[in-house]
Amino acid sequence: MKIIENIEALRSTLKNEENIAFVPTMGNLHEGHLSLIRIAKKHADFVVVSIFVNPLQFLPSEDFNQYPRSFNSDCNMLRNLDVDLVFAPNDKILFPVPQEILVLLPPVANKYEGEFRQGFFCGVATIVLKLFNIIQPDIAIFGKKDYQQLHIIRLMVQQFNFAIKILDGEIVRATDGLALSSRNQYLNNAQRLEACNLYQALQSIVNEVKNGHSNFSFLEKKATDKLSERDWKVDYISILDKRTLLPAQANDRELVILAAAQIGKTRLIDNIEFINEHY
Ligand code: PAF
Repeated sequence: MKIIENIEALRSTLKNEENIAFVPTMGNLHEGHLSLIRIAKKHADFVVVSIFVNPLQFLPSEDFNQYPRSFNSDCNMLRNLDVDLVFAPNDKILFPVPQEILVLLPPVANKYEGEFRQGFFCGVATIVLKLFNIIQPDIAIFGKKDYQQLHIIRLMVQQFNFAIKILDGEIVRATDGLALSSRNQYLNNAQRLEACNLYQALQSIVNEVKNGHSNFSFLEKKATDKLSERDWKVDYISILDKRTLLPAQANDRELVILAAAQIGKTRLIDNIEFINEHY
């Protein structure tokens, strides 16, 4: 497995490769990332993983400096999965000059995550666009855990005419249902036990819709109130049409619930896709 830091060396290594799959990461890899890499291995001859903690997607008040970095153990995991190349640039390589040209995103990027983390998706889209231009993969794989991110990347690829096929990977969960995330390691023992209640709240909504409830704002509020009683600070629980990420109408069939909530100082996101069988 090659580990490459600079763009010229990367381009010269990739120039003879014909079928490249790319998995962008911020490192601190867990089973969720590894599942995306397994998808990449299935679909391409050459797999590139990037490790870069992208400063453009952190607000000044967020955890950029504390974000867990574990480069050596990440590389060991990637070696075990037979990844061909790790692209691990530093800030100066990706931003030799301040990044003044940014991707302008549609209104959906200002909702849900975007409402609580202003500029987040602009930072994500801008770095992903740069990485796509540098690596020029045939396929790129993103996890459904970051559902809104995946939606926005698909829009960007479509509207900027990238010849890149976007594949998605399912959320990987711990046995109690908590979605795996690098930020889970911020949780203390009590918070870790509590954390699965976020997923359970989403599952309760799915069950209620399956049982015929169609007042979605009532269900969102009920789930929010239940978590708040358990000391969560809920940013949003939103039942949406999964194709548009607009608020779902009672007769929409393919739905997703997006949620973000904080337990202690740790903010978790989760989501669940489901079919409203009544339509
Ligand atoms: O999902 C992530 O880890 C990041 O948002 C990404 C796509 C690697 C961009 O920095």
